[in-house]
Amino acid sequence: MLSGRLDGLGDGPFTRLDKLLAQVAPAAGRARIDLALGEPRQEFPAFVAEIVQRHASEWGRYPALRGSAPFRAAVVEYLRRRYRLPEGLLDAERHVVPLCGSREGLFLIAQVVVPQAGKEKPVVLIPNPYYVAYAGAAMGAGAEPVFVPATAATGYLPDFAALPDSVLRRTRLCYLCSPSNPQGSVASASYLERLVQLARDHDFVLAIDECYGEIYQDRPPIGALEVCARPGGSLDNVVVFHSLSKRSSVPGLRSGFAAGDAKIINAFARWRAYAAPTLAGPVQAASAALWADDAHVAATRQAYAEKFAVAERMLGNRFGYRRPDGTFFVWLKVGNGEQATRRLWSEAALRVMPGAYLSFGDGDDNPGAPYIRVALVDDLATTTDALTRISETLEKPH
Ligand SMILES: Cc1ncc(COP(=O)(O)O)c(C=O)c1O
Repeated sequence: MLSGRLDGLGDGPFTRLDKLLAQVAPAAGRARIDLALGEPRQEFPAFVAEIVQRHASEWGRYPALRGSAPFRAAVVEYLRRRYRLPEGLLDAERHVVPLCGSREGLFLIAQVVVPQAGKEKPVVLIPNPYYVAYAGAAMGAGAEPVFVPATAATGYLPDFAALPDSVLRRTRLCYLCSPSNPQGSVASASYLERLVQLARDHDFVLAIDECYGEIYQDRPPIGALEVCARPGGSLDNVVVFHSLSKRSSVPGLRSGFAAGDAKIINAFARWRAYAAPTLAGPVQAASAALWADDAHVAATRQAYAEKFAVAERMLGNRFGYRRPDGTFFVWLKVGNGEQATRRLWSEAALRVMPGAYLSFGDGDDNPGAPYIRVALVDDLATTTDALTRISETLEKPH
């Protein structure tokens, strides 16, 4: 009666965290702080509400499935500006599709590019640790998910090229997150060049999740389209996913887009036209204005930089702390992530995410098991308070 396609995934990370902490009372008399959910709580521009209001009549109309002309133009202009793309590489008509946040796009792309299983089961490559939608997408499309370690030993990025030919031959889709959640690693130009070549050699689709592309420390991370624009200038096999959730701190707006290979974007848009959610007209209008504005994004980056300066002071070189190249996450090596999560809740009223819940594998085979993920999404004072409590709690002998 039910398809059961996602059954193999078990509970998601937040359900598992709720279950873990349900057995533990939080420290009494201390304000509870949620550092588990990567939900930006930064102020977002006031013009969002004004534009939504100004476009209120559009609530009464079906929105354009491929996005309004101003929305698509703003996206193309943003990508050109941010990634220094040459004129003409992207065509607003052919290379862009709006998404209700990047998660739905990251999930649904698998439905479009993974063929029905024939003699051999198609493979979807997923970095490990990973964002949960990738695994759901692979299973939902009836593919075999192959989790590829992205650990300290591999520079926190997956080494897809090291996979055996028997796997690469069956691969139809490969996810990469850069900057990556949870480790905050950024793929270099040469890494991306090699990966794009690998995808073309084996004819699989690369889904590059760049939703943290604006949340960086020093240098703007290179993007996959930027790499594609280099000699040759072909977008073949490559689709990037972007979102306003992190860039503009509006996770509730549900606004993002996919851009890249025209053939894939066209097939994706056709597929989405049957059933997928559509970005409402007033939301498209506000989104276009957000993509056009960089000032609020610079202010957001500055706010995160201040919090990372505190993290560096508080955690220094303890608990494997390293300043991430991007994202707002701290990925701490604490020995046993689940145990540390329970302690931080019971001794300090802090809710963090065990790394094991963001990674695939049992016991020592789970690369996230020794870690916790801490999201620096609150204001500076709250974050400083939380980091102080983390430092004091984990320092104490257990
Ligand atoms: C790595 C990664 N990709 C995608 C998303 C989805 O974000 P949204 O659907 O809000 O664009 C998230 C959200 O936390 C994420 O961490």
